[in-house]
Amino acid sequence: MACPENMFFLIGLFMSGVLACFGQRDLITTMPDRLDVLTGSCVQIPCAFYIPDQNYYKFNSTILTSGVWFKKSPLFAEGQDNVIFNSSEMVNSYQGKITGNMSQKNCTTVFFNVTTSYSDKYFFRIESQPYRATDPEKPVNIDVRVSPKDTSASISPAGPVLVGSCVNLICSSTANPPVTNFTWFQISGGKPTQVASGQSYTLIVTVGDGGLYYCEARNSQGCGKSEEVKLAIKEQGEAVNPKVYEIIGKILVLLFLFSLIVFFAWRRRTSRLSNGFETTDRS
Ligand SMILES: *[C@@H]1O[C@H](CO)[C@@H](O)[C@H](O)[C@H]1NC(C)=O
Ligand SMILES: *[C@@H]1O[C@H](CO)[C@@H](O)[C@H](O)[C@H]1NC(C)=O
Ligand SMILES: *[C@@H]1O[C@H](CO)[C@@H](O)[C@H](O)[C@H]1NC(C)=O
Ligand SMILES: *[C@@H]1O[C@H](CO)[C@@H](O)[C@H](O)[C@H]1NC(C)=O
Ligand SMILES: *[C@@H]1O[C@H](CO)[C@@H](O)[C@H](O)[C@H]1NC(C)=O
Ligand SMILES: *[C@@H]1O[C@H](CO)[C@@H](O)[C@H](O)[C@H]1NC(C)=O
Repeated sequence: MACPENMFFLIGLFMSGVLACFGQRDLITTMPDRLDVLTGSCVQIPCAFYIPDQNYYKFNSTILTSGVWFKKSPLFAEGQDNVIFNSSEMVNSYQGKITGNMSQKNCTTVFFNVTTSYSDKYFFRIESQPYRATDPEKPVNIDVRVSPKDTSASISPAGPVLVGSCVNLICSSTANPPVTNFTWFQISGGKPTQVASGQSYTLIVTVGDGGLYYCEARNSQGCGKSEEVKLAIKEQGEAVNPKVYEIIGKILVLLFLFSLIVFFAWRRRTSRLSNGFETTDRS
């Protein structure tokens, strides 16, 4: 009740009620009470209008008529920023199109690329010369819901892990209503096999666990699938790069050869020295 928007709505109802009592409703529209839409999709609002007798002469269908949609409050006021679509404007805050033929009083409208912020109450208005009118009594409630979006999978720790280590696979997703079920799949033999359910999947890695995984997030509206992530396994023996052994081996061989050379050089030198000594000694 304290909400200004509710107040406007009540005043609107009251006024349109009064007008209706006197048969003065300026415009009568028919459209669904409510439409449920998924984010990212488009919404078609089936819409038709009827101009009550007392205004009939004012509406000339051969004159360009603007179809206007505005949201929240049933009261239209010039310059309000709640107008979201005007068929006479090239640029509107909502991308859309009146697909119905307004000359035939068909105001069927499509809005594209619906996002959750589109959830609201919408009213239709006609603007032509000299006739301009809104039907404050017939809003359509658009309720945007999401199948799970931006579903992604990650592995912690990232990078190759040793057999026997503990790894967490985590699934995340934005969804309204919230995700009720996360399911994990491993791709084995080219086919996905369900391996776990739950937002995170913890495993002690065995050799067969290496490979590609993805998760699925499901809510009442549908499901979203993540990209594939790779669980890479590091073999125990491969902990040290085999190149390192090769280099160490070569260095050892070189050291051995070098010490052999030094050893023989030393032996030749000592034997020459001792020979020399003997010679000197003899002279
Ligand atoms: C509607 O508008 C057209 C163009 O301005 C005019 O020729 C025609 O007489 C009008 N019809 C009525 C019923 O007023
Ligand atoms: C709709 O667009 C027409 C043409 O630009 C303009 O005359 C009219 O005032 C606009 N109506 C609203 C409610 O924005
Ligand atoms: C109104 O227009 C829409 C879109 O062009 C069409 O699908 C629908 O059949 C039309 N409604 C009537 C009553 O002609
Ligand atoms: C809309 O309806 C009018 C009157 O029935 C007709 O003359 C006109 O060609 C129609 N326009 C389109 C785009 O179908
Ligand atoms: C919908 O929105 C996306 C991203 O904002 C954009 O890339 C895409 O072109 C839009 N599609 C349409 C039909 O407007
Ligand atoms: C989650 O979904 C999977 C696959 O559809 C299903 O096998 C599993 O039973 C579901 N779990 C729950 C708790 O709903």
